[in-house]
Amino acid sequence: MPPTYDWDDLVQADRVHRTLYTDPNIFALEMTHIFGGTWVYLAHESQIPNNNDFVTAKLGLRPLIVTRDANGKIRALYNRCTHRGTTLCRWDKGNTKSFQCPYHGWNFLNTGQLRGVPWPDGYTADIRDPKFNLAQLERVESYRGFIFGTLNPDMPPLIEWLGPITKPIDDWLDRNPGGKVVVCEANRLKYKGNWKLAYDNSSDGYHVIYSHRSLIETENRFNDPTGKEKGMAFYKGSPDKLEMYVAYTGNGHHFKDKRPNIEKRAGGLWAIESLHPGMEYYAEKLRKRLGPRADAALDLAGSEPVNINVFPNLSLLGNHIQVFEPVSVNETNAVWYGTRVEDDGTWDQETIDDINALRMRTQEGFPNLGEVDDITNFEQIQVGLGCLEDEWVYMNRGFGMPERFRTDEQGVIYGPATDEVFMREYIKEWKRLMQADPNLIVRRDP
Ligand code: FES
Repeated sequence: MPPTYDWDDLVQADRVHRTLYTDPNIFALEMTHIFGGTWVYLAHESQIPNNNDFVTAKLGLRPLIVTRDANGKIRALYNRCTHRGTTLCRWDKGNTKSFQCPYHGWNFLNTGQLRGVPWPDGYTADIRDPKFNLAQLERVESYRGFIFGTLNPDMPPLIEWLGPITKPIDDWLDRNPGGKVVVCEANRLKYKGNWKLAYDNSSDGYHVIYSHRSLIETENRFNDPTGKEKGMAFYKGSPDKLEMYVAYTGNGHHFKDKRPNIEKRAGGLWAIESLHPGMEYYAEKLRKRLGPRADAALDLAGSEPVNINVFPNLSLLGNHIQVFEPVSVNETNAVWYGTRVEDDGTWDQETIDDINALRMRTQEGFPNLGEVDDITNFEQIQVGLGCLEDEWVYMNRGFGMPERFRTDEQGVIYGPATDEVFMREYIKEWKRLMQADPNLIVRRDP
């Protein structure tokens, strides 16, 4: 018998038990209740722009092929052969009308239908039986290019489930030409820690001045050898006086807005981005060629200091998309994708190319510098939580202090970015899903 859990004991108002991060049985339940029970981000439409394009993805531990079939319909097929179960597609991406199994050669259309098998006269079973087609998610929906899938037939439509988090997503997209981004190649990082450690950190404004201090100080020295300019204002006064804020928007989603505390430099580039070598070359090129219009072009290159987090596995950070892929209870892939913009007629192609070159400069920094700080913390938490049997993770900053928060008419809770209100709230959604009857969540796990 699998163990049963007292969720009210393990998840309390201001702390959670260490087993949420260390127990393999809880991890296994999460793969059904969380990654099988809610909408999960799979891929971006710009990764499969043409008919017959595909990209591989994960729904928790379930391997998928996200395809755009010959009629343009987006599907999420299980990446397992229906003969003996091997991984069907071993490529990350490509364009094909069909997938041929590397083991015995069964061939499947990108609609999932079994197209043919070698030496079909050897089968008494009718291989046209639909049970031999690739299983696929019955519910796949997109919001402005972001493709989500769910195994839960009772989930509301995607847009309803996203709710107020669509507003920062819209703002994040609408600053770009045509209100769009194109997702670039993946930069895959792996850490030895639970997937929730990354989600816990994604709106955390409390750790920044400590964990990323060397990055911030280097940035300030790089930009301002005199020490007179403000640069990043993280150091000014008490963290509680900071104007940046965090908002919990419901269903596990939240975002952190750092813009009020980071000075925007002349030319549209945020201070923290000024660190990256090679930036000035492209910035100068744009200034020389465009004159006064250069500021608007530089604005497109500069990333927005916001972290928008869609439960359970997607973050939009600056100009990046980050996806959290659970591997085991103590192993996670943190996959970073840069983004670029495309011409919508506003700019000439040379300018778009320079903007994108500059975007790449600004996107190289954090995964290579700041993420190291974060991953070290995640791995050391995982070690620390293995020390004591009765260990707790506290998320009590601002707890019991309602004067620090306000709630708007949509139910969005706003508070100081240094408080842990977003964590206390999202873990309630986690608990709600973990307490649900799994038969009601995943009626059909193909
Ligand atoms: Fe795929 Fe045999 S396992 S054809």
